[in-house]
Amino acid sequence: MVKKTHEKTVCTKISNREEEMDNNQIAENIYQVGVIDWNIRDFHGYSTDYGSTYNAFLIIGKEKTVLIDTVKARFSKEFIDNISKIIDPKKIDILISNHTEMDHSGSIPRIMHLIGKDKPIYCSPAGERNLKAHFGNYNYKVVKSNDTLDIGGKTLSFLETKMLHWPDSMFTYIKEDQILFSSDAFGQHYASFKLFSDEEGHAAFTQGKKYFANILLLFSKQVLKLLEKIKEMDLKIKMICPDHGFLFRKEKDINKIVSLYEKWSRQESLNKALVVYDTMWHSTEKMAKEIAKGIAASGKINVKLLKLGEHHRSDIITELLDSKALILGCPTLNNGILPKVADFLTYMKGLKPKGKKGVAFGSYGWSGESIKIIEESLKEANFEIVSEPQKVLFVPDKQSIKALFETGKKIAEKL
Ligand code: FEO
Repeated sequence: MVKKTHEKTVCTKISNREEEMDNNQIAENIYQVGVIDWNIRDFHGYSTDYGSTYNAFLIIGKEKTVLIDTVKARFSKEFIDNISKIIDPKKIDILISNHTEMDHSGSIPRIMHLIGKDKPIYCSPAGERNLKAHFGNYNYKVVKSNDTLDIGGKTLSFLETKMLHWPDSMFTYIKEDQILFSSDAFGQHYASFKLFSDEEGHAAFTQGKKYFANILLLFSKQVLKLLEKIKEMDLKIKMICPDHGFLFRKEKDINKIVSLYEKWSRQESLNKALVVYDTMWHSTEKMAKEIAKGIAASGKINVKLLKLGEHHRSDIITELLDSKALILGCPTLNNGILPKVADFLTYMKGLKPKGKKGVAFGSYGWSGESIKIIEESLKEANFEIVSEPQKVLFVPDKQSIKALFETGKKIAEKL
């Protein structure tokens, strides 16, 4: 009998939670209607180890009903089902596209087919251009920063956020609810039934860091300008709703993610260095370890030793975000560098980290081009070279092991 009562309690709890999940109401007449992508593991080169979500928002005003963003095309049916649990999707009057990338626009054709092709799509000037190139002609309504849209009891305003991270990107803000729909900004790739950052430990911040490092690092300057602008506008924010991952509703979490964005976009470094390498017969690996030991021996610098392939390029970039230096090495293969190092350098150069120091190293057998190639690549990426490149013929002997340890110590002094 006791067992039965307990079972009943558990069942009630589960069904309450399911109701909540079905509903996904985040404020009065505002719903998260996006989908969870539990299985995505690669987002054009970024390892999404925890999946992702494509958030979209339904806003029911007294006069008009608005949908902000859609989801990837292959989730269209689930997306429409989510909307249908709240209203008949045909009742949507306006679609707002904050960003054209297809993880947020892919379901636009299905939605427009359902709600009527003449219904307006609000977007930025570049949004109109980009949406046309993706989906052809619709009834686009171009909006600019500070334009407003009254839907009855809710006033939506727009803020262009060019190059965060596409030319079309914009935010939408609801004055009455003080909610900011921030598109990709403040997002995280993390699949969860939980909606809010305060419901799942530190995931929103650890994954937010990875997201920033791999998506927004290149646009750090624009992030800083935008944060300044938001301060100038004295925008009151009770909730931030990004298009990926958790939403932020607690004041402390909102302040935390905004101040982390300030810090990350300034590319402030900790006393931290990365020794990153690939190896053929473990000689470059031995070199990496000795340099790392030398840096650690300074007692002032936290050093991480990361082998390419064992650590994904996007995780190394996340570590690099708050590191002072990158010591990068590999042996020479066919007069060049190993493929994993080439891959990492290509990825890193695209993200243009700023204010970093660098050193190249590697073992070689006869020609030894890899060390020069790495050093040149670091220079091209605006790294300040703080040591002579470190070369070892075939296998490090006792003398070179000692020298590499001393080099590590010297590198630490320069950080
Ligand atoms: Fe999440 Fe730039 O799309």
